[in-house]
Amino acid sequence: MSEEIVILDFGSQYTQVIARRIRECRVYCSILPFNTSAEEIRQRPIKGLILSGGPASVYDEQAPLPDRKLFELGVPVLGICYGLQVLTYFLGGQVEKSQKREYGKGRLEVKSPGCALFRKLPKRLQVWNSHGDRVTKLPKGFQSVAVTENSDMAAVEDPKRLFYGLQFHPEVAHTPRGKTVLSNFVHSICGCGRTWTMRRYIDQAVEEIRNQVGNERVILGLSGGVDSSVAAALLDRAIGSQLTCILVNNGLMRGREENVVREVFGRHFHMKLHYENATQTFMQRLKGVTDPERKRKIIGKTFIEVFQAATKKVGHAKFLAQGTLYPDIIESVSIEGNPAAVIKSHHNVGGLPKKMRFELVEPLKQLFKDEVRELGRELGLPKEMVFRQPFPGPGLAVRIIGEVTSARCKILRSADAIVVEEMKEAGWYYEIWQSFAVLLPVRSVGVMGDERTYGYTIALRIVESTDGMTADWVRLPYELLERISNRIINEVKGVNRVCLDISSKPPATIEWE
Ligand code: XMP
Repeated sequence: MSEEIVILDFGSQYTQVIARRIRECRVYCSILPFNTSAEEIRQRPIKGLILSGGPASVYDEQAPLPDRKLFELGVPVLGICYGLQVLTYFLGGQVEKSQKREYGKGRLEVKSPGCALFRKLPKRLQVWNSHGDRVTKLPKGFQSVAVTENSDMAAVEDPKRLFYGLQFHPEVAHTPRGKTVLSNFVHSICGCGRTWTMRRYIDQAVEEIRNQVGNERVILGLSGGVDSSVAAALLDRAIGSQLTCILVNNGLMRGREENVVREVFGRHFHMKLHYENATQTFMQRLKGVTDPERKRKIIGKTFIEVFQAATKKVGHAKFLAQGTLYPDIIESVSIEGNPAAVIKSHHNVGGLPKKMRFELVEPLKQLFKDEVRELGRELGLPKEMVFRQPFPGPGLAVRIIGEVTSARCKILRSADAIVVEEMKEAGWYYEIWQSFAVLLPVRSVGVMGDERTYGYTIALRIVESTDGMTADWVRLPYELLERISNRIINEVKGVNRVCLDISSKPPATIEWE
C-alpha cells in the first residue's frame, strides 16, 4: 500500500468502526496496539495517526499510554475521546477526572468554521458522547474549535502541527455527519488520495498470491459462506487451475446449499471442486447427543477428519487457503472495561489444526466483511452468495434443540427455506442480520381437517444487529409473519405450531444453542 492511516487502539469498542469508516473514505488504514513504537510506525507509509477512544483514564496507574515520540513523526494526529485526553496530557494540558460519564446525544456548535475538520459541514451537528474524564486546559498551541452544552472543548486543534482532538465519537452512526469529519481528516488534512478500492485491491492481491504460491498447488475448504467463496473466486483469478476447492457436506447445511456452491464454482467458474458427502458420518456421530457443546465438538472434530482425508484424495498441495478476515487478526488489546474483548472469543475462526502441514494463503486478511462483499461482487459472484446472512459453522445442528437426526434436519431445512423465501419476497432478507427457523423437539396437539395432530414446534428467530454481539428482534409486519406461519404449518409435514422469538441479545443469544 502506498499510503496508510494508522489507528492506535486504546481498547475502545469502536476502534474497528473507526477503521471501517476510514476505509469507506477509500483510504487504507491499519489498527495497531497502543504501545507500538514510533520507530515501527515510521517504517510504514504513514500519512496520519488516529488515537482511538478507550475505557481508561490517563491518570490510572495502568493507563495505556503511547510512545511519546509519535508526536514527532511529523504527521497529522487525531485523538478521539480518550485519544484526545492522551494528546492533552502528553502535550502539557490538563484532564479532569470525573466520576460521572457523559453519555448520549449532544449538540455540537462549530465556533471556527475555518477548521479543516469541519469543512463542508453545517455550524450545528448532532454528535454522540461517551466519556468520563474531560479536558480542562489545552496544551500550548491548541485552541477550541467547537463546543457542546457540557463542554467548551468538544473539538480542538493545533493548526500548526496539525494535531486535532474530538471529545465525541465521529465514527458511530449516532453522529450522522461524523464520516465527513473523518473524511476531512484523512483527505484534507493528511492529504490521502482515494486509492483504496476493491478493483485496485484485486490487482494487488493477485500479484501477491502469485508471488507467494509460484507454481505450487493450493487447497481451499469451501463452506458456501461469504468468506470462503470470495477467497475462492480471488484465488481462481490469481492462479486458476492450481486451486482445488473441497466442499464437505456435513448434512447440516441449508436447503440446496451444496447445489448452489457446486453450480456457481463448478459450472460457472469452472473450478476444480471436490465434493465430499459426509452426511452419514456426521449423523452417526451425532446420534443420541443432546448437549450443545458436545454437538459442536463432535462436528468440529469430524469436519477436520473428513477434510484431512479429502485433502489426501485430491493430491499433494503445498498451500491451504483460508478466508481469514482482518478482524480475526487484529491484536486485540485487553483493557479492563472493554466489553468487545471479552465477548469475541467464543466463535471458531477457521479452525484447522496447525499440524496439517500446509503453508497458509490468506488473501482476505486485510479486509473487513463489507469489503469482502464488495470484492465478491467485483469478482462476479452472485448477490445471493455475497450478501447471504451469517450461518454458524455447526450448521443446522445448533438450531435443532436436542438430538440431531436426518428426519429433523429435513423438517428444519424445509421450514427454513420458507422463512428465507418469504423474507426475500417481502424485501426484508437483505435488510436485517439473520432470519431463520429453529426446531424445538416439543410436540403439541393440533387439528388439521378432521384429524388430530401431534407435531413439532418451529420458532422463528429474526434479528437485526450490526456485528452479532448485540441484537434485537425485528418488528415484522403481521401479514408477513402470518404468511410464514401458514406456509410452514401447511407445507412442512410434522410441524403444527410456529412461535416467534422476541428476546434480545443480551441476555438471550441469537442462535438457540
Ligand atoms: P450467538 O448465538 O452467539 O451468535 O448470539 C452470534 C453470531 O454468531 C453466529 N454463530 C456462529 N458462527 N460458528 C460460527 O461460525 C459458531 O459456532 C457460531 N455460533 C453462533 C450466529 O449465527 C450469529 O450470527
